[in-house]
Amino acid sequence: MKEHIFSKKRILLLGSGELGKELVIEAKRLGLEVIAIDKYKNAPAMQVADDSYVIDMSNKNVLKNTIKKLNPDFVVPEIESLSIEALKELEEEGLRIIPNARTVEITMNRDKIRDLASKDLNIRTAEYQYVFNYDDLDKKAVEIGFPLLLKPLMSSSGKGQSLVEREEHLLKAWSDAQSNSRGNVNGVILEEFIDFDFEFTLLTVRKDNGENVFCLPIGHIQSKGDYQSSWQPLEINDLLINEAKKITNQILNNLNGPGIYGVEFFAKGNDVIFSELSPRPHDTGMVTLVSQNINEFELHLRAFLNLPIPKITLLKPSATRVILSDEEFINPKYTGLNEALNFENTKVLLFGKPNAKKGRRMGIVLSSNDDLNLARQNADEASLSINVISN
Ligand SMILES: Nc1ncnc2c1ncn2[C@@H]1O[C@H](COP(=O)(O)OP(=O)(O)O)[C@@H](O)[C@H]1O
Ligand SMILES: [Mg+2]
Repeated sequence: MKEHIFSKKRILLLGSGELGKELVIEAKRLGLEVIAIDKYKNAPAMQVADDSYVIDMSNKNVLKNTIKKLNPDFVVPEIESLSIEALKELEEEGLRIIPNARTVEITMNRDKIRDLASKDLNIRTAEYQYVFNYDDLDKKAVEIGFPLLLKPLMSSSGKGQSLVEREEHLLKAWSDAQSNSRGNVNGVILEEFIDFDFEFTLLTVRKDNGENVFCLPIGHIQSKGDYQSSWQPLEINDLLINEAKKITNQILNNLNGPGIYGVEFFAKGNDVIFSELSPRPHDTGMVTLVSQNINEFELHLRAFLNLPIPKITLLKPSATRVILSDEEFINPKYTGLNEALNFENTKVLLFGKPNAKKGRRMGIVLSSNDDLNLARQNADEASLSINVISN
């Protein structure tokens, strides 16, 4: 058998938030070189990377020239808002984009992934309509019915997302979406409101050989479209999880690129409804930092580096709760860390973001316990004790 030689690779990380930071830490454990990019200085992943650059990733020439100059072995997007044209052209020239440029393009806005799932693959989703002009809004909203969700086609973490209960609230929701839409995408998606029993993320790692390996399902709670807490394992019946796996296989076999995917579902009665997916580590999946033998960041790396992924196991039931800022500050400080760290099997990650903003995720509490409910309770209470302050 030919001996496998592992050599130092250069990874270019596009987006340097908290998920990128953990990815860099795992990459550094393997002795890899990582260059982190974002639109602002001193972003979380930059604090642990070998080198960093501040650029406008939505500008095609800027992104393309930066990547060419840095000449990485792998380009790993951590965010959605970037020039896909630059990535597509570089992939044509032989550069490795993770998982691949087509998947990055399909998942960067809400429309392509939704159409792929619903129209091409016949997977159940919420009913939906796209609207690009305010004049069409009323008619399409009435077709969907109220309440409905209105979201910018390009946004994340609940930004610009509104639950619209009545027709007269459409204008405000439309304006919120316009002012929170990223890139130059002005359209919105209207979605049937699913009054689900619960929602979950099925983290799935697609190996380089095309095999899909599932992690145990992660339950989570969102508020105003943004994640608040998550836990693993989620108790769920076989019928639902098997359906979610079947749907995930269908989608990943189509997208076909190595890496971790966070596949989001709603469960209602005996139905599983596909919501969206990230072709990269997922925020609710940060729980795997303590719950699994191989966390989602290491799984991502191992998948695209084509390293072995033996059995993924649960170490201990675990939970997370986010630490949010209530206000805007420069150079925030934190109170209550001592109280939080007094909880058993509990860790606090502070992301080191240089600025706090209202509602911005500044850190996370992770807690493990043989009793999952206690893990959740400890994560909640520890997080509650921490406050983000200005001095
Ligand atoms: N059609 C829907 N019905 C009910 N809740 C929804 C619907 N779409 C989104 N949500 C809620 O909003 C959250 C965020 O929506 P999502 O589409 O995942 O946006 P993002 O890309 O910002 O994560 C979901 O996790 C869910 O809690
Ligand atoms: Mg989501």
